[in-house]
Formats: sequence, structure tokens, C-alpha cells
Amino acid sequence: MSVLLTGGCGYIGSHTAVELINSGYDVILADDLRNSSEIVVERIEQITGTLPKLYKADVTDRAAMDTIFEENDITAVIHFAALKSVPASVANPLEYYRNNISGAITVMESMAAHGCRTLVFSSSATVYGSDLPAPFVETMPLSQPSHPYGRSKQMMEQIITDAAAAGLVDAVLLRYFNPIGAHESGLIGEDPSGVPGNLMPYITQVAIGRRPYLNVYGTDYDTRDGTGLRDYLHVMDLARGHVMAMEQIKPGCDAINLGTGMGTTVLELVSAFETAVGIHVPYEIGPRRAGDIDVILADPKKAELVLGWKAEKTIEDMCRDTWNWQVKNPNGYV
Ligand code: NAD
Ligand code: UD1
Repeated sequence: MSVLLTGGCGYIGSHTAVELINSGYDVILADDLRNSSEIVVERIEQITGTLPKLYKADVTDRAAMDTIFEENDITAVIHFAALKSVPASVANPLEYYRNNISGAITVMESMAAHGCRTLVFSSSATVYGSDLPAPFVETMPLSQPSHPYGRSKQMMEQIITDAAAAGLVDAVLLRYFNPIGAHESGLIGEDPSGVPGNLMPYITQVAIGRRPYLNVYGTDYDTRDGTGLRDYLHVMDLARGHVMAMEQIKPGCDAINLGTGMGTTVLELVSAFETAVGIHVPYEIGPRRAGDIDVILADPKKAELVLGWKAEKTIEDMCRDTWNWQVKNPNGYV
């Protein structure tokens, strides 16, 4: 059985590729490498012993997508390809809407034209918006995200729901919370370009000496220690969740949270990292970051009930594996 991973050279896609290959699937990657490196493909081979086929293709290009379907017997698609930076989406909303929305539509059109129905979609906790009380449950009516990136994810969820209602696809919308960590080999991991916007890659870049200190964005949140609380999950748990979700797709469209249900604050993550890897991470307290909220936390019960999936790895595992990747690849994929 062949599975197409759009955006498969990226952070979550590459880890999911490993998990799929290890579960016996043929994996085909489609990525235009705008936010990833071709080196990933060799690393996947080093880990699994199998070199996945890579199409350097833009998912908004219908002809390129059709070629992939014509040359391969694809039974399922996991659609990761998207732009994901919140501040970049505020600065370049049209680019974000064009790439993310037209990418999802093009992939589904090409699927429909080639008789492929099964779709796993990379959604995000960001779809819950900024006004709901945590923990977030799938049955909650969504509130408005505060940025174009989040709104593009909400719109894509709606479009996929409509496509499923029309009988074009059977889909699962996986709402990821905060994936961190790396494959235990340290051969693949998160490789942000420029200054990292997210907390974990920033911490590791401070620890390795690429940046002098961490800016802690605000200590006046309504949390245990005043810093933002998030639901971090290990990227390999997340990858396993994709395989389980794909294998159990039902007719229609369903949304499922992938998170641990356990929150960690900024200062707790710094401290867990220091303990796990034995390196001090200096930080300075700064103002809040625009758009941030106090708490983002999953209610993970549905994933366990419907998929039999539960996060297994701890914050310590996440810190240790992130650090292993960072030490082995101090400048990412170069
Ligand atoms: P990533 O940037 O590492 O991976 C995305 C990949 O998609 C990249 O390799 C990029 O080159 C590719 N891509 C983007 N636009 C493309 C296009 N038009 N054609 C072909 N390839 C294209 O990001 P990631 O962290 O692996 O995220 C994967 C998905 O998960 C995204 O949809 C993202 O919005 C979603 N998500 C990520 C997080 C997170 O914290 N990383 C959280 C929630 C949801
Ligand atoms: C961010 C995005 C969100 C996206 C998620 C996963 C914003 C406003 N939100 O959310 O849409 O789904 O990433 O990609 O960008 N922090 C610091 N210092 C830093 C970086 C972060 O103190 O240098 C704090 C933040 O204020 C937050 C926590 O660390 O409280 C986690 O931040 P981050 O990793 O960016 O994730 P989210 O805020 O959940």
C-alpha cells in the first residue's frame, strides 16, 4: 500500500515517513523543499533501510500532482504541506491563503480524479481560536483564531468537511498540539530557518551557543508560574498517531486532537531541559508576544477512544531527543 505524504520532507512529515515505512507501507514524498532539505530523504533511508521516492513538486500544481497519482498506485494521502509561521502569515496573508488553501483543494481534486479517497489532514490546536477555555474538546464550536495561519487551518477543515459530505473523500482532521522532540537516532529533527519562533528550538539553540539567552514572553499569564502553558507532545508519538488514524479512517470526516492532556509552562520546560541534558539555559523575562494565550491544552480522550492512541513519551524524552538531534546537527541539515 502506497501512501503519499505532501510536505513529507518537513519536520512532522519526515518522522511520519519513518513510522509508516517501519509499519510496512510504501512512502512517496511530495515536497517543493521551500521549508525543508532533500538530505531528509537519505536520513530516512539511514533509519529505515528504505529510500522513499521524492517528487519535488508544488502541491498547488495540479499537473504535478496528477503525475504523482498516475505513476503510483496511491491509496492514502497525508497532507502536511503548508506554510506555518504565525507572524509570516500576518505579514503575507495572501501567500498563506493561496498556498495552504489552494494546496489542499488541488490535492483533493487530484485524489478524486484518481480514485483515492483516504485523507489525513494536518490541522492544529490553533483552530480552537483564542476565546475557548482549555482543555479543548473536539465538540467545542470553534472560536476565531487571531491570525491568518490559524484561519487558513479553520478554512481548510471546513473545505475538507464539505468535500467529505459530498462523498469525495474520507478524512480525519488531526489537531496537533505542540510537537517537539526528534527521532531517537538524532538523524532527523526540526530544522527551523532563521530565528526560531517556537520555544523548544529556541531553547536548544541557546543551549548549543547559537543564541545568548531565551526571551521568556511574559510572566503575567494565568498559570502556575505566570508563563504560557502548552501541551507538548513527542513528534514520534504524533507520527504513530498518523499511522493509526490512517488505518482507521471511516466514511465522512472526523476531527481528533493529538496531545497529551498535560501542560508544561515555559519555565518548567526550561528546567526539564536543563535536567535532561545537564546544560544551563539562561533566560530573560520580556513582554508578552502578540497573539499568545495563557493555556493551550488538549482533551486527548477521543484519540484514545476512537483510535486507541495515547501519547507515551515524557517531557524528558522530548528534551533528550531534541538535544540529541541538535548536537548531531548543530546547524540543521547542511
Ligand atoms: P514544515 O515546514 O517542517 O513542513 C511542511 C513542508 O511542506 C515543508 O517541507 C515545505 O517545504 C512543504 N511545503 C509547503 N508548501 C508546499 C507546497 N506548496 N508544495 C509542496 N511542499 C510544500 O512544517 P511541520 O512542522 O512539519 O508541519 C507540517 C504540517 O503540520 C503543517 O500543515 C503545519 O501547519 C501543521 N502543524 C504543525 C505544527 C507544529 O508545531 N510544527 C502544529 C500544528 C500543525
Ligand atoms: C505557536 C503559534 C501557534 C502554532 C504553534 C505550533 C503563535 C502566536 N502561535 O504557538 O499558532 O500552532 O506555535 O507551531 O506564534 N515562548 C517564549 N519564548 C520564545 C518562544 C516562545 O517564552 O522564544 C513562549 C510562548 O509565549 C508560549 C510558549 O513559549 O507561551 C510556547 O510557544 P510556541 O512554541 O511558539 O508555541 P505556541 O505559543 O503554542
